[in-house]
Amino acid sequence: MKNIGVLISGGGTNLQALIDKQGSVIKSGRIVCVCSNSAGAYGLERAKKAGVPTKVIRKNADCGGDVLEFNRRICEYMKEMKVDVIVLAGFLAILGGELLSEYAGRIINIHPSLIPSFCGDGFYGLKVHEAVLSYGVKVTGATAHLVNEITDGGRILLQKAVYIKDGDTPEILQKRVMEQAEWIILPEAVEMVCAGKV
Ligand code: GAR
Repeated sequence: MKNIGVLISGGGTNLQALIDKQGSVIKSGRIVCVCSNSAGAYGLERAKKAGVPTKVIRKNADCGGDVLEFNRRICEYMKEMKVDVIVLAGFLAILGGELLSEYAGRIINIHPSLIPSFCGDGFYGLKVHEAVLSYGVKVTGATAHLVNEITDGGRILLQKAVYIKDGDTPEILQKRVMEQAEWIILPEAVEMVCAGKV
């Protein structure tokens, strides 16, 4: 059984999907902690409701804006909680340094597009769906992938396509991509890594 640490920044609907699928889809791991880089993240409430320990580590307020210190503090917390596999579930800060080398091949991210489209620096959250709609593509989706030093550049684990519909707004499309893709493939990818199938 692997110990899973989840990093979040916001609403935490992907975290909720992971919590809900423990024991069914996720059989080879269990969530042992949730860490947020924002004190107001609603995902922290979801974790507390599920009885999962939480911690807030903020780049500016706690680490003086120092990216390396921010990563070092997260890494320290993950080790303290004996985390084996890290999941970025709507974590909107860039990771680097010690954390990436220490957990190489054991960090999973969910991105709300079909990589290599609409990804990389600056593509996060609603911005991704805005770019998708303004380009006019007819199919989008989500990608679960391993994290390396290149933003959204690590090995792809799973992808799922979602159709764009007439009248979509970024908000409507974001919700459909979450429901039809992210909440399904993220728990599956986490199980793949925990079960050593990657
Ligand atoms: C999700 O759509 C996730 O794919 C995206 O942020 C949202 C977080 O929602 N992540 C990225 O854009 C990463 N580049 P949530 O907090 O409700 O899970």
